[in-house]
Amino acid sequence: MNSSSLSTKTAIVTGAGSGIGEATARKLAAAGATVLVTDIDSSAAERVAANIRESGGAAQGLCLDVSDKSKWDEIAQTALRNHGQLDILVNNAGISISKPITELTLEQWQQVMRVNLDGVFLGTQAAIASMAQGGSIVNVASVSGIKAFGGASAYCSSKAAIRMFSRSAAIECANADNGIRVNVVTPGGVKTPMWEREEFFLALIAEHGDREQAFAAMTGGVPSQAFFSSEEVAEAILYFASDESARLTGAETILDRGHTG
Ligand code: NAI
Repeated sequence: MNSSSLSTKTAIVTGAGSGIGEATARKLAAAGATVLVTDIDSSAAERVAANIRESGGAAQGLCLDVSDKSKWDEIAQTALRNHGQLDILVNNAGISISKPITELTLEQWQQVMRVNLDGVFLGTQAAIASMAQGGSIVNVASVSGIKAFGGASAYCSSKAAIRMFSRSAAIECANADNGIRVNVVTPGGVKTPMWEREEFFLALIAEHGDREQAFAAMTGGVPSQAFFSSEEVAEAILYFASDESARLTGAETILDRGHTG
């Protein structure tokens, strides 16, 4: 994709202070978009936005908790006031709390749902209201929404729901003929800081020596289960965000090397 293909576009990326969101914000900015880099961690959002500006891109760092409806209204207003339009929304922010159902508290279950699912709903709602000239919404699910894993019931349920929510949203937008497309990127394992937020992964690092060895232990050397980089996932998101995919809506890119089929 050439460096000016998104030059007239304004994008919001959630959870863009780390991992896949950070790589996506950088990629959209490199393709010419003005990016609102949002995260619940405002200093992480500011850091990524500053890095993008230092590289010659256009970016603004903003604090956004995706489960807070009033903050969504503010962010959408910021996009319209400062940039005149909103063209792209990447609903990327997500968390995982891995515990058996017998140990997971209702509060933890609801926390995962609030961020992963309420956040995508609220973001999609705000974007549909703001994308007057059409636009592209890209929702980040997970192969955990296709293939179940024990100890990850909340995460798997939330990611399965994102896939179905996105299809409903795509149908609604097509029926409304509002020019808004809704697509899903569904990654397998990706080497991001998300893993270090999980107790079981910290235990794997302690057991195997370092992060890379812990990732290797999880895949057992099976090539089809190898981890992706954040940049590889960001490339798939960029495709749906851009006009290259202008005729696609309700579609899904599954990055699983065939493993979940
Ligand atoms: P990460 O943990 O590196 O980054 C997530 C970012 O979201 C962080 O900067 C965090 O501060 C932010 N965040 C957390 N709660 C938030 C909230 N309430 N509002 C706004 N921002 C919030 O995680 P990663 O791996 O980059 O994950 C991004 C997305 O990709 C998530 O939806 C995740 O479920 C999904 N995914 C990740 C995979 C992986 O193996 N890392 C695999 C498949 C999907």
